[in-house]
Amino acid sequence: MAFFRTEQTQLVEPAASLRAQVDPSRLPAHVAIIMDGNGRWARRRGLPRIAGHRRGAESARAVITAARTVGVGVLTLYAFSIENWKRPKSEIDTLMSLLVEYLKKEEPGMRENGIRFCAIGDLDLLPPGARETVQGVVSRTAGHSGLRLNLALNYGGRDEIVRAVRRLGREIAKGTLDPASIDETAISRALDTAGLPDPDLLIRTSGEKRISNFLLWQTAYAELHFTETLWPDFREEDFLKAILDFQKRERRFGLTGEQVRDQHNGR
Ligand code: FPP
Repeated sequence: MAFFRTEQTQLVEPAASLRAQVDPSRLPAHVAIIMDGNGRWARRRGLPRIAGHRRGAESARAVITAARTVGVGVLTLYAFSIENWKRPKSEIDTLMSLLVEYLKKEEPGMRENGIRFCAIGDLDLLPPGARETVQGVVSRTAGHSGLRLNLALNYGGRDEIVRAVRRLGREIAKGTLDPASIDETAISRALDTAGLPDPDLLIRTSGEKRISNFLLWQTAYAELHFTETLWPDFREEDFLKAILDFQKRERRFGLTGEQVRDQHNGR
């Protein structure tokens, strides 16, 4: 097998070889990613933080292509959390400009490749220019049936649950919902990810091992994959390795290992 050396002189297995090892019948239906480490990537090179974010946008592009190529149905990227408003204003402004620039640049490719772009989070609090750009791409790609790409913007898992509870509360107040009929499905349907499968795989880069308020309800049974790689260095090879790692796991959903094996054997 041919290997090549990266900038950091690590041995890396090429994407084509990794792709060939992926079992297409056991793909995660939904992959969620906490893209972390942009600032550290920049700092290590003596560059401003925004250089890390710019390079991180290239990683997003590479991973979207990889997810589409391998056949993942839904990809959710954590681009801006509710907590990120605490960052310096200059960094927030640049992140918002980068978002607009990124969407303008990527929209033609999304159309070409049938990508359906959606946003999760409370978009009302985004700067008007960013919100309009996001909503424009959402509506112009709404008819696409390929990869569903969700960008989490001004997103917080607890906030999403609060907004869902309010939504259900309004229906109860109107008399269109019986509180006794609220079950897990009803709550899932009131979330920003309504209608989507829950993530099977959650990836976090940069060595941090936290959920950081991301998809709290939806990741109840997700497999977690943590990698030391900083997000700006994360490419197709890293994504495929995460998928292969996922495919090695035995997912039990509360069953015994024996029951899971019987299910696989059709017993
Ligand atoms: C985390 O790195 C990254 C973010 C807060 C922003 C995510 C933004 C991008 C990946 C670029 C834009 C992407 C799109 C799709 C427009 P950090 O700044 O927290 O890194 P650190 O923990 O090393 O400081």
